[in-house]
Amino acid sequence: MTNTYRVEFVTNGSSQSLEIPDDQFILQSALDAGLDLPSSCNAGVCTTCAARILEGQVDLGDCMGLGPSLQDQGYVLLCVAKAKSDLKLQVGCEDEVYDLQFGQSA
Ligand code: FES
Repeated sequence: MTNTYRVEFVTNGSSQSLEIPDDQFILQSALDAGLDLPSSCNAGVCTTCAARILEGQVDLGDCMGLGPSLQDQGYVLLCVAKAKSDLKLQVGCEDEVYDLQFGQSA
């Protein structure tokens, strides 16, 4: 049986909510609904679609592009994430994820 969760996408100062079934990837559902979210590989590798969980839980499945410490901080890759509860997500986190993951030596 499929559950549907309410997912709120927060970008600079504005937010949009969608109903997303728990058997679909969050990114694809959002794009299908007409949201303009960054994406590239659609395979959990490139981090273009990175977001941060403000509230709720996701199933991250096979997420190769994010290190465990970033996942512990609540970052997710929306192209491989499925909703496990109602969610509030900060979208457009690619730059900060890049800095956290690769910027340590700078
Ligand atoms: S689009 Fe590449 S990690 Fe999601």
